[in-house]
Amino acid sequence: MNETIETILNHRSIRKFKDVKISDEQLDLILSSAQQASTSSYMMAYSIIGVTDEEKKAQLAEITGQAYVKNNSHLLIFCADLYRHTLQASEEQYEQMLANLENSEHFLVSAIDAALAAQNAALAAESMDLGICYIGSIRNQLDKVDEILSLPKHVLPLFGMVIGVPDHQPDKKPRLETKAIYFENEYNQDQKDELQAFDKEIAAYYQSRKTNTRSDSWTDQMLRRFTNPMRMDVTGIVKKKGFNKQ
Ligand SMILES: Cc1cc2nc3c(=O)[nH]c(=O)nc-3n(C[C@H](O)[C@H](O)[C@H](O)COP(=O)(O)O)c2cc1C
Repeated sequence: MNETIETILNHRSIRKFKDVKISDEQLDLILSSAQQASTSSYMMAYSIIGVTDEEKKAQLAEITGQAYVKNNSHLLIFCADLYRHTLQASEEQYEQMLANLENSEHFLVSAIDAALAAQNAALAAESMDLGICYIGSIRNQLDKVDEILSLPKHVLPLFGMVIGVPDHQPDKKPRLETKAIYFENEYNQDQKDELQAFDKEIAAYYQSRKTNTRSDSWTDQMLRRFTNPMRMDVTGIVKKKGFNKQ
């Protein structure tokens, strides 16, 4: 196995960091790795906001309810960004672009571009023995995050990423068997056996892990997730920001 794959397979989210800053060189490498990700039709339809202002970090930590959003070396917020794409258009051209720019296709393009850049950033960080955790809970109050970061129309915060020197080594979290997510030529709807086997595996993992042991299964987690309405304001905010309108 080569070092790249070893890094990828060794991933676990890190939620406790040493009180040290990563170097400027490390940050530059993380950002240029993010930028080198493939990007749909060369659109580069994302932006990354590095939050270095301690007050803003504290506000974002409060929104997420997660102390590690404040206690880390770096906090990056990944945004879908279709702002720069109209910047040099005339008023008339802007009007012609708008319906296309604001449709579901370009919402997907920008969200995918941001996610690809983020995962490159994550791997670059992990390859330098840094730890990361994605932060979706900035969407707890998306409009507030939008305001804190002064984001214009056509720039939408999607998720954050905290980065730093790990101060714990959590157990590696199991994944579904490959055959539950990889199908040849056609989708396999009959996944119950794999899910039941995985529920047993993950229940044993939750019982045996070093911290935060609990009785749980993947199926129970998904039941809780989808029976409790969540962040129901996101749809409206996404549209208000000029994304996914048709
Ligand atoms: C887009 C995204 C958003 C996430 N948001 C959060 C979050 O807000 N807080 C958190 O503690 N973990 C968050 N995570 C981390 C996941 O909980 C974690 O990746 C998953 O449970 C698997 O664990 P592992 O990364 O340790 O293997 C997020 C992951 C992704 C990909």
